[in-house]
Amino acid sequence: MSDRSRTGIPNSLQEHWMPFTSNKSFKKDPRLITEAKGVYIKDHKGRTQIDASSGLFCNPLGHGRKEIINAITKQLETLDFVTPFQQGFGGSFELATKIAKHTPGDLNQIFYTICGSTAVETALKISIAYHKARGQGQRFRFVGRERAYHGMNIGGTSVGGMINNVKTFASILMPGVVHMRNTHLPEHKFIKGQPDTGAELANDLERIAMNFGAENIAACIVEPISGSTGTLVPPKGYLNKLREICDKHDILLIFDEVITGWGRTGSAFAAQEYGVTPDIMTMAKATTNGIVPMGVVAVKEKIYDTIVNSAPEGAVEMFHGYTYSGIPVAVAAALAVQDIFEKEDIFNRAKNLSSYFLDGLFSLKDIDCVENIRGYGLMGGIDIKKSDRPGKAGFQVYKKCYEAGVNFKATGDCLIIAPPFVCEKKHIDEIVDKLKKGISSYSKSK
Ligand SMILES: Cc1ncc(COP(=O)(O)O)c(C=O)c1O
Repeated sequence: MSDRSRTGIPNSLQEHWMPFTSNKSFKKDPRLITEAKGVYIKDHKGRTQIDASSGLFCNPLGHGRKEIINAITKQLETLDFVTPFQQGFGGSFELATKIAKHTPGDLNQIFYTICGSTAVETALKISIAYHKARGQGQRFRFVGRERAYHGMNIGGTSVGGMINNVKTFASILMPGVVHMRNTHLPEHKFIKGQPDTGAELANDLERIAMNFGAENIAACIVEPISGSTGTLVPPKGYLNKLREICDKHDILLIFDEVITGWGRTGSAFAAQEYGVTPDIMTMAKATTNGIVPMGVVAVKEKIYDTIVNSAPEGAVEMFHGYTYSGIPVAVAAALAVQDIFEKEDIFNRAKNLSSYFLDGLFSLKDIDCVENIRGYGLMGGIDIKKSDRPGKAGFQVYKKCYEAGVNFKATGDCLIIAPPFVCEKKHIDEIVDKLKKGISSYSKSK
């Protein structure tokens, strides 16, 4: 294709094997995005969409932020790459200090990765390294949860619990993983915020500890709010109970905050929002406003000290890291994002918009095909009634909504709505109106 602005259809759509995509259907009727500004994106047919899921929950500050673009450009002009092993550059240390100011408790040790998936793998490995360093090398098991999404590497897929992600790869998953039940109960219908019932589901962890030997379990990993499966909000008291059980058995608690991190719940992290401090926390996505890949693992000081102090003087303490761990371009983007978080009081902005957003979302409850709605902070899930096979209705509604001018991520039969934090009330109104139009149009076509 000679069109360097990438606004037309390329000569061939065949060679690019697209991720998590119905390739055959896409290539017959492509949706090519050509422009993104503020809370809007434009496609190759010139259609404008409002971005109702902040890209993939990663652009909360909106698109085309000059501060971030300038910071990246400036960084690349002076220093484009630093080998991250046995060398470093000031920016990544400056960023770690800034991140540690926001993390709960003493999760002050910051390890950089490439994305959410590699943050999860790193968190799992740190758990193992920690137990080994303190003479508990027998702890090899991990406890995950049904309907969880922890990225697509082998560790994350193993502790994850979304069936389509798991079943093809069952033969190569990590051994020793056990899953708790998910936190969605049949009575959780159209609940805004945290359900009152279901905290006892955390006792699954106690049962697993009894059945498999607590002394063999390294860590329990959960998303505080299960995001990719459709915003399953934790029942009141559930996360506190998990924390208690982990403490009782010396099991590490990992919060995967790749979606919930950086303000999505109205606090910097869901950990603070729900008043439960994990031992290890992952983040990615919003860390750079989604513009440059970056993952982060925040770790309690005790864990870092145990691992680092167990190695001989002068030796590498943990044999783990990535070529792109904390590279200058990602750090520059993340530092610019930190500035914006502060200047625009972004987490409070998200908090203040939440009830308006949730009211708007719940106004869609009477459309025929809507089965359930959930939400917390600036995250929501709308379940569409299944038709024929799982995922068919969700994809059809997604396409109808796309035609109506609203863009978001659909997983199976659930529409996941997570607007940018820079939205104003009028943008929330637009999102809700267009969702109504798209969902109703599907409903009428049935
Ligand atoms: C909770 C959670 N963990 C991990 C990941 C994986 O992140 P990435 O796609 O950046 O690898 C995601 C992605 O959506 C996620 O939602």
